[in-house]
Amino acid sequence: MGLKVGVVGCGQWGQNYLRVLSELDDTELCAACDLRAEVRERIAARYPGVRVLTRVEEILADDGLEAVVVATEARAHYEVVATALRRGKHVLCEKPLTLAVEQAAELAHLADTCGQTLMVGHIFRYNAGVNALNAAVHAPDFGDICYMCLVRTNLGPIRADVNAAWDLAPHDISIVLHVLNQMPIRVSAQGFSYLRAGREDVAFITLEMPEGVAAHLRVSWLDPRKVREVTVVGRNQMAVLDDVQTVEAVRIYDKGVMQEPTYSSFGEFQSVVRTGEIRIPPVKGDEPLREQVRHFAWAARERQRPLSDGWDGVRVVAVMDAVQRSLKAGGAPVLPVMVEPAVVDAFAWHQAAAVALQPPSRQESAEGGQLVGSGAR
Ligand SMILES: NC(=O)c1ccc[n+]([C@@H]2O[C@H](COP(=O)([O-])OP(=O)(O)OC[C@H]3O[C@@H](n4cnc5c(N)ncnc54)[C@H](O)[C@@H]3O)[C@@H](O)[C@H]2O)c1
Repeated sequence: MGLKVGVVGCGQWGQNYLRVLSELDDTELCAACDLRAEVRERIAARYPGVRVLTRVEEILADDGLEAVVVATEARAHYEVVATALRRGKHVLCEKPLTLAVEQAAELAHLADTCGQTLMVGHIFRYNAGVNALNAAVHAPDFGDICYMCLVRTNLGPIRADVNAAWDLAPHDISIVLHVLNQMPIRVSAQGFSYLRAGREDVAFITLEMPEGVAAHLRVSWLDPRKVREVTVVGRNQMAVLDDVQTVEAVRIYDKGVMQEPTYSSFGEFQSVVRTGEIRIPPVKGDEPLREQVRHFAWAARERQRPLSDGWDGVRVVAVMDAVQRSLKAGGAPVLPVMVEPAVVDAFAWHQAAAVALQPPSRQESAEGGQLVGSGAR
């Protein structure tokens, strides 16, 4: 029997959850709720066996329901997730977990205290392209990582509740924290509003990581091209993920710059560009949302900590909080605030488990393979 799941918030993105939850053997779509009547009518027509409700309290009152997916607008996440955890449900919440770092930490604590699974929809943790890129940049030949550059642009969709940074950058921050396995020591961000005063539709964000590693993010709702690109530059090699491509999404460039002695003056060096082969590793995986939902069902059933658990959500919100403060300060560098020691502890725990930070393959999930550190709670 699949995990009995209900969906709270069935708008644009929630619809995808309805589809995936109804398709997978690991889950059973039992109920759905949305405040909007037209959304409820659409669900009732499409999923006749599913209980369609209006309010979150109605869905949580169903004792047979084991878990909920929260896909409301971000500003509603905190209340809905807290109520669901207190009602004994496992929760998969969309990103960002909350819009305030203290609230995110409170939810992560609450999940640990209640013994419920809290997972955040950091979907790129379940993206085969990101995992292939991550494997390539941690291979010995790649050399130390110098910097990362991430671009996430499109023309819309434009959200009414948050700016483009809160909408788009949590994805890239989650990728950066996963690949570099560190928190930034300084964050600076500049944002500009062309569509609506006071709500940035484009942002340029720089994360300064320990030991001089940098990550730059460009996110925009106002761009002619849909771009989802991650570049990682290492000492010996460079790698690019083009997540819009369905084939050959990852390329590893055996390129770099070498220092060679000059012949004209003893003891001086000149920079020489070295160009080698381009390797295209295979990228095999299911639709990331299906992988994510399958991982959630596995974590909830097996009582294992998911890869993108509540604390992972806290770290992303902590960086976003710094991004927002820097945006307000016109791009001045700010320090990410760690709310309390538990956040740091959880990060150390993840660092220790870094080698195991891979989402389960379908086979591993089916076999209930243990994936993250000690995992069991
Ligand atoms: N992982 C991804 O790639 C991805 C993509 C798009 C959106 N998202 C995230 O998904 C979430 C939803 O985004 P969206 O684009 O679907 O928004 P949306 O506005 O289209 O849908 C939100 C729905 O939630 C409903 N809702 C709000 N509060 C509710 C409540 N208390 N009880 C029941 N229903 C409620 C609204 O009526 C609405 O239909 C956001 O957090 C967003 O960041 C993630």
